[in-house]
Amino acid sequence: MKKLAAVFLAGIMCASLAACGSGAADDAASTDTQTATEETVEETEETADDAAAADTEGETAEAGEVTTVTEGILTMGTNAAFPPYEYYEGDTVVGIDAEIAQAIAEKLGLSLEIVDMDFNSIITAVQSGKVDVGIAGMTVDPERLENVDFTDSYATGVQVVIVTEDSDIASVDDLEGKLIGTQEGTTGWDYCSTDYGDDMVIPYTNGATAVQALLDGKVDCVVIDQQPALSFVEANEGLKILETEYAVEDYAIAVSKDNTALRDAINTALNELIEDGTVQGILDKYITAE
Ligand code: ARG
Repeated sequence: MKKLAAVFLAGIMCASLAACGSGAADDAASTDTQTATEETVEETEETADDAAAADTEGETAEAGEVTTVTEGILTMGTNAAFPPYEYYEGDTVVGIDAEIAQAIAEKLGLSLEIVDMDFNSIITAVQSGKVDVGIAGMTVDPERLENVDFTDSYATGVQVVIVTEDSDIASVDDLEGKLIGTQEGTTGWDYCSTDYGDDMVIPYTNGATAVQALLDGKVDCVVIDQQPALSFVEANEGLKILETEYAVEDYAIAVSKDNTALRDAINTALNELIEDGTVQGILDKYITAE
């Protein structure tokens, strides 16, 4: 696990350099290679127009085929700083979500392309047609449902609290008056802001930077999903996860409200993959029983 986390941290550094991974999108289209591309808001807007054009062309596709942003490709938006769901191994995004997406793409006769972006940008990218799907250990929540559709759920998430081993925080009931580190735009950030006020909750770009702030004594705890929390605690001395849980949630795939055919096709594929044990097999590969 320590090795995995080190690779993952290297990945984050890589992703933060604009040059890293760029220009490889075309290769990915032809070879199935997963590609991580740094994105900007401007890019998102530009691509929305391209996507609208692609949609119109796609309508001539044969019956039964789904329309995607780029023909023949399922483009997945994610935030690859979230082990074991998505993280870097070298230049490649791997993890539970990458494998489930690959299996779904195969069933739909598409190749998979992965676009790495801020977690906060994923819903907009789905809405604007920069990507077809958001697959990012993303929790189904009412606010997101106003902007995108979700498929059926493929996994359960649990929000937990990471503290230092010597912390006086013993349970989730002790968070009042504490500075809480979270990942910006996540449900953990949302719950804590609602429960303790914006002033007490510091948003970080990703889980690793939030955990680093905890190690540096800048926050008193970090609220984040359980599986990444386990990776971060394994990778760093002196941290532990509280036994009491903050919230239990469903992870699902975000799809544009304008592409219900794609959502339905993914649901059919996903349910087959759940029924034949593929999804469980992928989860078991990355999540070892505690
Ligand atoms: N489950 C949480 C949410 O949906 C956190 C997901 C963060 N995912 C990521 N790939 N960084 O808000």
